[in-house]
Amino acid sequence: MEVSCHLRCRLVGMLMVVMLVGVQKIPSSSAQTTQRFQFTVEWKKVSRLCHTKPLLTVNGEYPGPTIAVHEGDDVEVKVTNRIAQNTTIHWHGIRQLRTGWADGPAYITQCPINGGKSYTYKFKVVDQRGTLFWHAHYAWQRASIYGAFIIYPRLPYPFSAPIQAEIPIIFGEWWNGDVDTVEKEMTMYGAGPNLSDAYTINGLPGPLYPCSNEDTFKQTVERGKTYMLRIINAALNDELFFAVANHTLTVVEIDAVYTKPFKTNAIMIAPGQTTNILLTADQLPDSSGMFVMAARPYVTGIFPFDNSTTIGFLRYKQPRIAEKTKIPTIPNGSFALGNLPEMTDTEFATEFSNKLRSLGSPQYPCNVPKTVDKRVMISISLNLQDCPANKTCKGYKGKSFFASMNNQSFVRPSSSILECYYKNLKIINKYAGFPEKPPREFDYTGGNPMTQNMNTEFGSKLLVVPYGTNLELVLQGTNLLNEENHPIHVHGHNFFIVGKGFGNFNAAKDPSKYNLVDPVERNTVAVPSGGWAAIRFKADNPGVWFIHCHLEAHTSWGLAMGFIVKNGPGPSQRLLPPPPDLPSC
Ligand code: C2O
Repeated sequence: MEVSCHLRCRLVGMLMVVMLVGVQKIPSSSAQTTQRFQFTVEWKKVSRLCHTKPLLTVNGEYPGPTIAVHEGDDVEVKVTNRIAQNTTIHWHGIRQLRTGWADGPAYITQCPINGGKSYTYKFKVVDQRGTLFWHAHYAWQRASIYGAFIIYPRLPYPFSAPIQAEIPIIFGEWWNGDVDTVEKEMTMYGAGPNLSDAYTINGLPGPLYPCSNEDTFKQTVERGKTYMLRIINAALNDELFFAVANHTLTVVEIDAVYTKPFKTNAIMIAPGQTTNILLTADQLPDSSGMFVMAARPYVTGIFPFDNSTTIGFLRYKQPRIAEKTKIPTIPNGSFALGNLPEMTDTEFATEFSNKLRSLGSPQYPCNVPKTVDKRVMISISLNLQDCPANKTCKGYKGKSFFASMNNQSFVRPSSSILECYYKNLKIINKYAGFPEKPPREFDYTGGNPMTQNMNTEFGSKLLVVPYGTNLELVLQGTNLLNEENHPIHVHGHNFFIVGKGFGNFNAAKDPSKYNLVDPVERNTVAVPSGGWAAIRFKADNPGVWFIHCHLEAHTSWGLAMGFIVKNGPGPSQRLLPPPPDLPSC
């Protein structure tokens, strides 16, 4: 069934309206189909915070259109580039089994789509259900090119509450200036990036920012009904806390994997992560009928950050006369942020992430590898690089900021690694050799951060593993320059977070404390600040896959690596051939 984008987008729009007014039906188990979408990357004039500027968009929408499909569907998205710059789109969290060609990171799995050209991403959604998102994967374009990617399950939800409506809540960041310039300046001078001017909920900053009263997200709810919030952190550089005044949130799914449900007053969500929560409108509103929802950063580093807060509102239909509950308005015009943790509340962030567990039911088992074939220890650090003689560097002490994994600062090649590898499997030797442990052992989290030599090496070395390897990556944060929480994202695979802690990983003691029963499964792990996280997965998706910090500034500084999963012996264990319209460099 072919539906034009125009119609499809209208249908999605109508569907959303239907969802808002009527009780949503349990997603149907209709036949698997091919779902087609048209994405045009184009400039659009957008105003926020009293600033009007051309903004990169998909189909002129900000945030971009929602993709909604069913588990098992084939998806085809024709992306047409109508801007002068290159672009690519990534379907963040989609496994892309054998279809690495459709994954999207520029120069890793494809050459970018040049201005005026099109490329159709084709892939199947296999054994995943829930909320993901899509975003540009070229330079800093994902600042405004992003949208929700919703996968409806074939079976009813594994929780019983009847869901009145499903509401995407997408966090983003807004810069008054041109985002391209922000990135260019930081890479040119090795300084930190200019900070964003606002956080947004569904593209709307809310009333705590100048000229933004009209640009405020409001969601109407009915008292007594339960809603599913599909929360996505599409911000570039900031982990966020989110809470709704007076309301309890029940977490039921993250990164398109069901979790054991648990209640919480707030969530912590890192860039690249998604969280589905249930919220029951069980409060007694005052005559305004409004409750604040808010997001603000969770901060662990010493670098400057955007310390502002975005808010929106839950608006109860037919508010009753106020009894005891008052709208939490503070006289100075700001709002009581109720359940929102303080920006430095690492204790809350830790407790919250400790509560996340795989559902692990017979229907949705937790397939964590119980044993591993290979453990790779990866130190994550920021670096302070000596300034070349002929350059001006504006980082700390007149040097340049970089970042690295095992002291390798990743440099994107000028052609697609996947394509080079596919055409000539021997190329593997050119790229192989990513170190399987830090170049030297040291007190990763306890040394004097300022007396270390903090130069890094530059390259594009990859880890190479045979098909089916049970891999364990120990992601070890360091305090070089600065201790910080890093959201590490793995392409092409979900993984299980089997262990984590503060300080240095201890190979003799820590593995005995791993959770190999119901560890949470996801695609992006927030590695604790000044600590480590151990993740496990079966490398069963042949191809070339990117691993990187989902803080865009850190990726620009080289906090990335890649790995190749070789083809397996079976016919269904091989990378598929490239599509005929694959862009060339
Ligand atoms: Cu959402 Cu490589 O990223």
